[in-house]
Amino acid sequence: MYLESLRLANFKNYPAAQLEFSSEINCILGKNGSGKTNLLDAIFYLSFTKSAAQSQDLQCILHDEPFFSIKGSFNLEEKTRVVLCGLQVGKKKFVKLDDKPYKRASEHVGKFPIVLIAPNDTDVIRGTSEDRRKFFDAIISQVDGHYLQNLIQYNHALKQRNSLLKQFADRNFFDADQLQPYTEKLIELGGEIFSVRQKFLKTFQPLVNAHYANLSEESETIDLQYESHFFEDIRTKFAQNLKKDLILKRTNVGTHKDDFPFLMSDKPIRKFGSQGQQKSYLIALKLANFDYLYQEKGIKPLLLLDDIFDKLDDFRITKLVEMVASETFGQIFVTDARPERTMSIFEELNQEVKMFSIESGEIEELS
Ligand SMILES: Nc1ncnc2c1ncn2[C@@H]1O[C@H](COP(=O)(O)OP(=O)(O)OP(=O)(O)O)[C@@H](O)[C@H]1O
Ligand SMILES: [Mg+2]
Repeated sequence: MYLESLRLANFKNYPAAQLEFSSEINCILGKNGSGKTNLLDAIFYLSFTKSAAQSQDLQCILHDEPFFSIKGSFNLEEKTRVVLCGLQVGKKKFVKLDDKPYKRASEHVGKFPIVLIAPNDTDVIRGTSEDRRKFFDAIISQVDGHYLQNLIQYNHALKQRNSLLKQFADRNFFDADQLQPYTEKLIELGGEIFSVRQKFLKTFQPLVNAHYANLSEESETIDLQYESHFFEDIRTKFAQNLKKDLILKRTNVGTHKDDFPFLMSDKPIRKFGSQGQQKSYLIALKLANFDYLYQEKGIKPLLLLDDIFDKLDDFRITKLVEMVASETFGQIFVTDARPERTMSIFEELNQEVKMFSIESGEIEELS
C-alpha cells in the first residue's frame, strides 16, 4: 500500500497544498515551525481519523478559517482508494471512502495502516503504566475487534465497581453481595484481556529484540516483560485487597493495573537508559509494531518518521536507514530540519526518493 497523492485545504498551517508522492521514500525538509510535522499529521489523520498531536479536531483548522479537509489517494492492492476527511465549524467531522460516508469514523481505522515514530512518543518509555497499556492496546485493537469490545466492557464494569465502593464509603456501610457481580465481571473480562496480552507479547517480544539488536549492534541487552495480577490466584488477590479498595474507594486489582516493564541490562530503561538508548528502544518498539501489523493484516503500513535522527549516533542512523530502505518496508516519509543530512543519507540509496522543501506552509518539490 502507498499514498499516491495528498490534497490539503486549511489544515493547520496549510491554506492549500497538493502533493504527489514517491511510492518508496519521501523526505520532508524545512526549518523549525515550517509545517513538516503537520504534513505527517495530515497523513496520520487519513488513517486514524484523528490527529496524533491535537486531541481536538477544531485545532486542526487553519486559524480563523471555517473548515479543513484532507484528501488522500491510496494505492491498495493496485486499486486507487480515495479517503476524504474534514470538519466544518459547528458540524460533525466526516470521513468518506471512495465518496461513501461512514456511519462511525471508527469503522475506518485499521483499513490503511500507518506507523508513526515521533520524538514525543517517548511517553511510552518514560511515562506511566497507563501510557504503555494504551500503546499495546492500540496495536492489538487494530487487529482484534473482540479485544477492543472486551476492553470497553471491562472499563465499564470497573467504573461501576468503583462507584459502588464510593457509595459504601459515603454511606458508611458495606454489602458484599452487591459488590460480587462486578468483581466477577472484572475477573471474567480481565482474564480474557490477560490471555490476549500474554499471547500478543509472545509474538511481539522477539520482534522488538531483533530490531533493537540490529540498531545497537547488540551493545546492550533488552527485555520486555509483562506484570499482571492475573499471574497470581486472582480471587485471593481481590479478597486480599478488599480493605484497601474500600479505603481508597477504587479497585486496586485487575488488568487496568498491568504494566510492561522495559529493561536494559536488567534495569528499567525508563530510569537508567540514556536518551539515545530510550529513543532506540522506542524505534525498536515501533518497527515491531510495523512487523506485527504487516503479519496480521498482510498490508505494509506506511512508515512516518518524524525527526528521528536527532540523538542517534551515526552508526544507529546508518543502521536505521539501511533497515527502512530494505525490502521489508513499504512507503516511507521522513522529516528533517537539517536538509543536508537527509539528502546525503538518502541520495545514495538505490530507491525512488522524492524531496520536498517546506517554508511556512508552502511546499516545493526539489528535483
Ligand atoms: N490550526 C493552525 N492554524 C495555523 N497554524 C498552525 C495551526 N496549528 C499549528 N500551526 C502552526 O504550524 C507551524 C508548523 O508546525 P510543525 O509542527 O508542523 O513544524 P515543524 O516543521 O515540524 O517544526 P520542527 O522542526 O520544530 O519540528 C507552527 O508554527 C504552528 O504554530
Ligand atoms: Mg516537527
